[in-house]
Amino acid sequence: MPRHFLSILELTPDEIHGLFKLTADLKAKQKSGKAEQLLKGKTLAMIFQKPSARTRVSFEVGMVQLGGHAVYLAPTEIGLGKRESAADVARVLSRYTDGMMARLFGHDLIEELARHASVPVINGLTDFNHPCQVLGDIFTILEHRGSLDGLTVAYVGDGNNMVHSWLNAAARLPMTLRLACPGGYDPDPAVVENAVQAGKSEIVLLRDPQKAVRGADVIYTDVWASMGQEAEAGARKEVFRPFQVNESLVRLAKPDVKVMHCLPAHRGDEITDGVMDGPHSIVFDEAENRLHVQKAIMVMLMKDG
Ligand code: CP
Ligand code: NVA
Repeated sequence: MPRHFLSILELTPDEIHGLFKLTADLKAKQKSGKAEQLLKGKTLAMIFQKPSARTRVSFEVGMVQLGGHAVYLAPTEIGLGKRESAADVARVLSRYTDGMMARLFGHDLIEELARHASVPVINGLTDFNHPCQVLGDIFTILEHRGSLDGLTVAYVGDGNNMVHSWLNAAARLPMTLRLACPGGYDPDPAVVENAVQAGKSEIVLLRDPQKAVRGADVIYTDVWASMGQEAEAGARKEVFRPFQVNESLVRLAKPDVKVMHCLPAHRGDEITDGVMDGPHSIVFDEAENRLHVQKAIMVMLMKDG
């Protein structure tokens, strides 16, 4: 059975730190023109049921930089679970490729792909989680702060797939994770409970964004309506208005607080232009690091020997 990457929970703390070391090494070598083609001749299939800019481009560029090739399969092409079962798609693509990355609606579908694939499957976002994003996020924090010691992250917004991956990260790495979500938009209680039971981190659920960000090292936010929730966007705008990350909220955190957003951002909704383009924002470093951390994940899973 190949090793897959569907969730941060599949990694030990040592493996996460090892991945960050490899990420830093790959990034430095790429920037100094000394990159090695660690996946020379390998091919990655990229299955998308949802739109993407960062995930699609960073995985494809990452494969090229590693000496391999990526095949983009658009939402209209494979018809995963409709034109053909996920199990059969997994069996067929395993005969052509050395790995698959999938961005899907249902998390059960990516689990089905992984169960039937004889090559590694990487999660490029489901309705449930987004593990590559949060690994890239924590690597970015590490770059800016130099260490994760005493880290307090305040997440402000919807208790969605991003939050689930943050909770899974907090189950593996010590941190204080404060979540400020409106009533009715909390993360899955089982994911919260798992993070609490892991005993590594302090997990705090709040309704008040101002309390959440007080003294925080990082403020993190995401869209109020995720992909697939477009019909709810209007109603959600009303509920989430008090959860906007704006200049007055940022002023309540540490003076050197970093503001993060997985992007794409809806400027003027969950984050203001002033914050996104301001001195605390590290959103574009964060976006860049998707490339470097995913190269490390692909090397970990797909490199021979
Ligand atoms: N953050 C992120 O995954 O971006 P895309 O949806 O553009 O891939
Ligand atoms: N929560 C967002 C994340 C996008 C990267 C979504 O699922 O649309």
